[in-house]
Amino acid sequence: MRKPMMAGNWKMNNTVPEALDLARQIYQLVGDTTLVEQVLCPPSLCLHPLKTLTAAMPFALGAQNCHWQESGAFTGELSPPMLRELAQYVIIGHSERRQLFGETDETVNKKTRAALAHDLAPIVCVGESLDQNERGETVSIITAQVRAALTGLSAEQLQTLVIAYEPIWAIGTGRAATAQTAGDICGLVRSILREMHGGAVADTTRVLYGGSTKPDNISAIMEQPDIDGALIGGASLEAASYAEMVKITAQVYGG
Ligand code: 13P
Repeated sequence: MRKPMMAGNWKMNNTVPEALDLARQIYQLVGDTTLVEQVLCPPSLCLHPLKTLTAAMPFALGAQNCHWQESGAFTGELSPPMLRELAQYVIIGHSERRQLFGETDETVNKKTRAALAHDLAPIVCVGESLDQNERGETVSIITAQVRAALTGLSAEQLQTLVIAYEPIWAIGTGRAATAQTAGDICGLVRSILREMHGGAVADTTRVLYGGSTKPDNISAIMEQPDIDGALIGGASLEAASYAEMVKITAQVYGG
């Protein structure tokens, strides 16, 4: 019922020519598979050339951040209506933005609302730090982050929402959460969605796991019933490993 998603968060990597090369290589390896939704999230200035290149390829594009205003004196920012011309998705509240660029639960909520209002599907990231994890606070932190991100939104507005559970201690460390833990926390996210917005939203919203996913561990992760995909950092920068993860996911889903 929920289409699996492999979203590559390229972060601040790849010039325009490199981004175009990477997309071409992925397409050569994966071909026209539509069993898995492939979302490429390059640096914003690569979105336009990638949109042109991939017009006939089965990729969706995502931005990595947006502002909540439509326009105005916000030097260096990009608004949802600007991004909507080039991308279907926008990552909001990635832990790197929370930790390095002052993103808060409040700005995550404003951006999520703004993205949805402009028909841009948010991929809202939540995740606990190592300290919080070691203090046993994972459930309360994730609950608070999901609740805050969705404050003031109705079930009708959430139709395109995606949530990504990305424990900070697993990002770029080579130490992924176990499939069981990732599955349990994605299940927690789904139960919060059910409590806030009812069964239909909980059953249709895709919940991703992110943090050191690779071809080696993606199968066990994708076998978890509450995990609908991955938000992939490092392994999405190599065409071969990203393509492999798409193929393994298609197999898990019976392709
Ligand atoms: P890694 O896959 O490199 O751990 O990064 C995960 C991530 O931050 C995706 O948004």
